[in-house]
Amino acid sequence: MKKLYIKTYGCQMNVYDSARMADLLAPLGYAPSEKAEDADMVVLNTCHIREKAAEKVYSELGRLRKIKSERKAKGHPMVIAVAGCVAQAEGAEMIARQPAVDIVVGPQSYHRLPEMIARIARGSGHALETDFPAEDKFDHLPEEQRVEGVTAFLTVQEGCDKFCTFCVVPYTRGAEFSRPVIEIEREARRLTLSGAREITLLGQNVNAYRGEGPDGTRWTLAQLIHRLARIDGMKRLRYTTSHPRDMNDDLIAAHQEVETLMPYLHLPVQSGSDRILKAMNRGHSRDDYLKIIERIRVARPDIALSSDFIVGFPGETDTDYEATLELVREAKFAQAFSFKYSPRPGTPAAAVARQIPDDVKSARLTILQTLLAEQQRDFNDGCRGKVLPVLFERPGRKDGQAVGRSPYLQPVHVAGAEKLIGEIREVRIASVLPNSLKGVLATDVSAAPIMAIAH
Ligand code: 5AD
Ligand code: SF4
Repeated sequence: MKKLYIKTYGCQMNVYDSARMADLLAPLGYAPSEKAEDADMVVLNTCHIREKAAEKVYSELGRLRKIKSERKAKGHPMVIAVAGCVAQAEGAEMIARQPAVDIVVGPQSYHRLPEMIARIARGSGHALETDFPAEDKFDHLPEEQRVEGVTAFLTVQEGCDKFCTFCVVPYTRGAEFSRPVIEIEREARRLTLSGAREITLLGQNVNAYRGEGPDGTRWTLAQLIHRLARIDGMKRLRYTTSHPRDMNDDLIAAHQEVETLMPYLHLPVQSGSDRILKAMNRGHSRDDYLKIIERIRVARPDIALSSDFIVGFPGETDTDYEATLELVREAKFAQAFSFKYSPRPGTPAAAVARQIPDDVKSARLTILQTLLAEQQRDFNDGCRGKVLPVLFERPGRKDGQAVGRSPYLQPVHVAGAEKLIGEIREVRIASVLPNSLKGVLATDVSAAPIMAIAH
């Protein structure tokens, strides 16, 4: 048996792709390994969205180069493959910068990996695949084989046609593509049969989903969600990441209509300044965004909102930045990610002359993150004393404890719940920690009937 070590960076799409690559390589005799030192093959599944991510890949490659030569000295070869968006963006540059790399494979070409490995084995140097091949990679990837746990990811859409001026995704992942409904449904059923209780539908622009429906027409994400909600054993559905421009009426309504669709929405806004939103080519204004979340809150009053922010976009003035803080105060987020603008080679914003100095970006980021952390704390504090349905995912650190998630994605630690992994139970939230909640089974504190919460 050969050993395969995969290290995944970046988004959940990469987590999904890494699992598919493991499935693809299993028939070639590769079993998963926890350590690069033991591995005959190493795959770094990379992310290019911000600077440090790519730098981390190069430093990891430096470490792997040493391991590779140590293994070689002992007569054990090692193949190093770089996959994902850094591979796509850098292409042959990667091999020039780190010759220990054998394979460079872009996100649309994973199905070519076995053939590339064979080429390397025949001693034909390096292998590079960074085209966007016409054939669909999903047709060539094996079906999902292993379910790691109670929650699973399922990629339904890939790529992006939006071309925000700061972002590499349209260049690294290519044009928007949606998988057909039937194919997704088949995969979702298989996941549920093998133990998944919650599925997160993934896509760079998941709510731009327009896959072929069983009736031959193009279906929306809302239609897909309604269809998947009918699967027996499927207790929870989520989707990420959405774009404000594609937040259609039927999707908003689905939050009211579909009981298993969780009240959580990650809806990146990036900035609160109309001037900056325009320069970013976002295609929505600050007001559009606030109106959308108002409508979602009408449909689903308890929805937890999450967002992404960029500070220090080229030309961002103090007034623009203030507008972002003001939007945050108005919108109130349960959770959020915020970043300093990082110029990505080849993107329009990187070529703008008025770049913001790093110390200004850092100062802006600190203030924004403090505000977002306060809002997160307020949201979590609001859960104290409430009874929330928790889907238990894994054992906790303490004996008998289990960790699950609330509908709002907060991790919840509960004593004496280990046997409940894979199930949903009502939990009374007793205390709020910085990044998680602690609770007791509602049945332990009152005689609340468990069946009442079965979905
Ligand atoms: N610089 C900083 N942040 C970025 N993001 C995307 N591109 C950049 C960039 N060049 C952020 C956006 C996006 C998230 C996934 O990463 O906020 O929503
Ligand atoms: Fe990047 Fe914008 Fe597309 Fe999101 S919508 S992936 S930020 S280009």
